Amino acid sequence: MNIDIITVVPDLLESPFSHSIMKRAREKGLLTVNTYNLRKWAINKHMQVDDYQFGGGAGMVMMPEPLANAIDELQKDKKYDEIIFMTPDGKSFNQQTANRLSMKENLLIICGHYKGIDERIRQKYVTMEISIGDYVLSGGELAAAVVVDAIGRLIPGVLGDETSALFDSFQDNLLAPPVYTRPADFRGDKVPPVLIQGDPKKVEEWRHEQSLLRTKERRPDLLEGD
Ligand code: ADE
Repeated sequence: MNIDIITVVPDLLESPFSHSIMKRAREKGLLTVNTYNLRKWAINKHMQVDDYQFGGGAGMVMMPEPLANAIDELQKDKKYDEIIFMTPDGKSFNQQTANRLSMKENLLIICGHYKGIDERIRQKYVTMEISIGDYVLSGGELAAAVVVDAIGRLIPGVLGDETSALFDSFQDNLLAPPVYTRPADFRGDKVPPVLIQGDPKKVEEWRHEQSLLRTKERRPDLLEGD
């Protein structure tokens, strides 16, 4: 899978994909992430990519021309399955969307800044708008990093144990069950015996029960279905 990201702060996207699972995915050639500095398509020698908003009001807006030129140029080489704009007024990101996006070949993500991007770019180019939660970040980069991480780990072959993503929280609209490691007795606090007794069927039943319990307690909305 290839993910291209247009940003005015490419440095912000250096570290998130250079460690751990994302690093391994890139090294294995399963994921490429390219960041493009929007200022490369700035309209003048002052590197301008934003301007005042029509109608007045505080805050700058990212201009249509640099974004359109950037997207047009990138589209010459690639056909994107989705052109995604990160924005707090987008559709809430969840595991289902991550699953769906992990099956795509080519994604382009646009990170907004300031007051956002000119509406005409949203209308003409953007095919999907994603919010990572009901709060406002100072730019779309951290949100894009969250989305790329959630998608990247689902690409087949990225996780060492191919099945482990299937048991993540949310994959069945259930939260994950509690997990334990050694020691079996930590300061008198013991691991549930079923996990030690070695009957895989019982372990599975216990985990499912715990998942249900946890979901009922913490996220009953997930059990209501959609
Ligand atoms: N940009 C600013 N805030 C955001 C959010 N909550 N989700 C996605 N992109 C954003």
